[in-house]
Amino acid sequence: MATAPYLSPSTLSRTAYNNHAQTYLDWTTARPSSRVPYLTRLLSLMTSGPPSGIRTSNVSNTSASTTTATSPAPSPAHDFRVLELGCGAGVPGTLFLARSPLVQHVKAVDISAAQLDLLQSKLTEDTLQTDNEHNINTTSLVDKVQILEADMLDLTFNNSMFDAVVALFSIVHLARREQKVMLERVYAWLGGGGYLLVNFVGTEMEDGGIVDGTWLEGSEADPAFWDGFGPERTKTVLRDCGFEVLVAEVVDEVDDARFLWVVARKPGGK
Ligand SMILES: C[S@@+](CC[C@H](N)C(=O)[O-])C[C@H]1O[C@@H](n2cnc3c(N)ncnc32)[C@H](O)[C@@H]1O
Repeated sequence: MATAPYLSPSTLSRTAYNNHAQTYLDWTTARPSSRVPYLTRLLSLMTSGPPSGIRTSNVSNTSASTTTATSPAPSPAHDFRVLELGCGAGVPGTLFLARSPLVQHVKAVDISAAQLDLLQSKLTEDTLQTDNEHNINTTSLVDKVQILEADMLDLTFNNSMFDAVVALFSIVHLARREQKVMLERVYAWLGGGGYLLVNFVGTEMEDGGIVDGTWLEGSEADPAFWDGFGPERTKTVLRDCGFEVLVAEVVDEVDDARFLWVVARKPGGK
């Protein structure tokens, strides 16, 4: 009997999210999530700097919050350049970043063209709405966000190009060894003092990860892939890359899903 061809995690994600982009967006927007609280925390740390003496992580269990997507009030001139990996439709993550006056530029990367089509229309809608509300010539969100359709594993950037890298519910779709490679590259792409906001699966998974055809009303024809080292090993991997782990919190999200939320910093800078 012929065996099914091997499909890489990236190939599985491309198909799954192309086929279910709208369903995923509807699912996401109908549920509370920790995205905005952690993005708020990220920008706050980036503007104020890490509390002195923090070099160890805090692991605690908290629950997903329902905080809505308002960006922090403007503070003295910042023009952060942010790379977002696996941005999806950008709701609420990319929109939050793009609306922030602290952020100058967002490079939003995803492997799924359908997800990026949704992002493009959200950015256009949001720009029109903002312009109408304030009747002023706001910087267009469309201009602020550069959309890139790519496998994050294929990206190449110069060193020290970004002030922050954000990856929400996306690195989880890579195999463990790929996650490690990605984190090493992210470390190089960040400038000294740059920040990483990322979440991982909250428990260690079986070797080889899992392929699940039943996620998000999917079918066996377009399963998704998940993998993760578990909280302790993930922190070790991050530290081995050179990161200072400032925040490491296991959060119970909806539907019994548990994620490790991390804010980490590349030493150096101001
Ligand atoms: C669970 S969704 C999360 C989307 C968004 N970040 C959010 O918070 O809702 C995962 C996203 O990662 C993208 N993705 C998965 N593997 C990828 C890869 N290798 N390169 C780029 N994007 C990837 C998927 O296409 C999908 O849009």
